[in-house]
Amino acid sequence: MEEQIVAYAKRLKLSWIKENFNQVEADSHQEYLLKLFEEEVKNREERKVNLLLKQAQLPKTGQQPFQWEHIQIPQGIDRATIQNGAFIHEKENLILYGGVGTGKTYLATLISLNAIHRFGSRVKFYTVASLVNKLIEANQQGTLQKLIKQIEKLDLLVLDELGYIPLHKEGAELLFQVISMCYESKSIVITTNLQFGQWNHVFGDPVLTEAVIDRLIHHSHLLLFTGESFRYKESLLHE
Ligand SMILES: Nc1ncnc2c1ncn2[C@@H]1O[C@H](COP(=O)(O)OP(=O)(O)O)[C@@H](O)[C@H]1O
Ligand SMILES: [Mg+2]
Repeated sequence: MEEQIVAYAKRLKLSWIKENFNQVEADSHQEYLLKLFEEEVKNREERKVNLLLKQAQLPKTGQQPFQWEHIQIPQGIDRATIQNGAFIHEKENLILYGGVGTGKTYLATLISLNAIHRFGSRVKFYTVASLVNKLIEANQQGTLQKLIKQIEKLDLLVLDELGYIPLHKEGAELLFQVISMCYESKSIVITTNLQFGQWNHVFGDPVLTEAVIDRLIHHSHLLLFTGESFRYKESLLHE
């Protein structure tokens, strides 16, 4: 009989029940069944979150709570909506602007984590450089459409570090293609150390730059990170 139960559980894809059904104790049939269902669902949700986390490829973060003191938030959005990722439901974008070590990457990562845990959102974290490299490579290998389709399925695309390196023409155009595709269909969180006036240096072409900014600032919130570098503070503490 056990073998049959295992076989049925396998066929029905009840992987927790398949492994654990004979360890569950209960006083009635109903209680037993309920426990099996509860554990199966819990396990399934955990696996889903783990898969989403794996796919998101988030950078490692510290454990310290996020400090908001030196971050200016515009009207129309609040800390909670930002941090818990709820802006994703409205397909809004965030632009996190400020100097090095002020918490842009950290906040983008926390938002991603919360969106995955709370809403089961499909998130992908790229540095601009890594995405552009990937796009160029895919374009050369004829797999660009496949990559674009993967990005299309996301709820949130994080683009970290716009502005650290200038892009070549092909890279700039491909990045524009991705940003246009995301426009109004999903959220982008972008971190940058450059004011809009300097984005020209990244995209190389004023018309393309304007088109990118136009897409991004529509439905977006600009957060200013005005603090000192935490990296600097932390290195002082550890001396
Ligand atoms: N606002 C903040 N609250 C808490 N920790 C922070 C904050 N900003 C930075 N840190 C700490 O400093 C580290 C570096 O910040 P990071 O997000 O990489 O800066 P940026 O991306 O703006 O250069 C973070 O991993 C975190 O440990
Ligand atoms: Mg960063």
